[in-house]
Amino acid sequence: MTSFSLAGRCALVTGAARGLGAGIADGMEQAGARVTRADRAAAGAVLACDVTEEAQVAGLFAAEGPFDIMVCAAGITRAEDIFATSRASFEEVLRVNLTGVFLCCKAAMEGFRARGTGGRIILIGSVVGHQGALKGHVAYAASKGAVHTMARTLARTGAPMGVTVNVVAPGVVETEMSAAAHGPAGLAALAATMPLGRLQQVGDMAAACVYLASEAGVGITGAVLDVNGGMLMR
Ligand SMILES: NC(=O)c1ccc[n+]([C@@H]2O[C@H](COP(=O)([O-])OP(=O)(O)OC[C@H]3O[C@@H](n4cnc5c(N)ncnc54)[C@H](O)[C@@H]3O)[C@@H](O)[C@H]2O)c1
Repeated sequence: MTSFSLAGRCALVTGAARGLGAGIADGMEQAGARVTRADRAAAGAVLACDVTEEAQVAGLFAAEGPFDIMVCAAGITRAEDIFATSRASFEEVLRVNLTGVFLCCKAAMEGFRARGTGGRIILIGSVVGHQGALKGHVAYAASKGAVHTMARTLARTGAPMGVTVNVVAPGVVETEMSAAAHGPAGLAALAATMPLGRLQQVGDMAAACVYLASEAGVGITGAVLDVNGGMLMR
């Protein structure tokens, strides 16, 4: 069987100060990778990089790269529906969730092209990128649908260079973001509706990312891997 090990590989994880990003960084380290953790603000082992600032992204790649693997987990949401969403709020969500991903992917792809040794990009999408948000979160759902589509386009660009580009699309993961969006009662109610009877955990996302980043994932590109407990079956 091909290996799930990331030994000897260098990975960058954005949004790594907490939530999915922190869990994915931990999982990749456990699989043997050397992981650079980045987030909007520096904290402990987490380096400061606002993914919406092109110069900061370039500085991070110059200082800490080259990377073999990049996971884009930085993201924000706003609960607002179309009536409550101002243009500024809409654009802010798109700036982080889509432009930020674009800037990081551009930097990673340029690095992969220069080195010619292939690479792995994993973007964190969402179930709402397929089906839209159940309520509110209008900008967020639009950003995640766009991320799914961008990954497929980049997968075609990257394929001749040995670069795979995939999306992990969670359902509802227990993090500070989902707690703020749904509240404890809302999360419990959601868990009860899940076919697997549970919410997702950050470790579930880490496992999917390690798989896609490892030799075991060599044949997968342009995929949106649903890790949603059966919330959406498509
Ligand atoms: N929690 C869920 O249920 C869920 C479901 C589907 C998708 N996701 C996605 O997973 C990713 C992580 O979500 P989470 O639940 O861990 O959220 P979170 O709010 O707990 O963590 C997000 C992290 O991203 C960082 N961040 C925000 N803006 C940034 C910027 N401009 N530059 C750098 N870092 C920035 C934050 O500081 C934070 O540490 C997001 O892309 C989110 O859309 C989460």
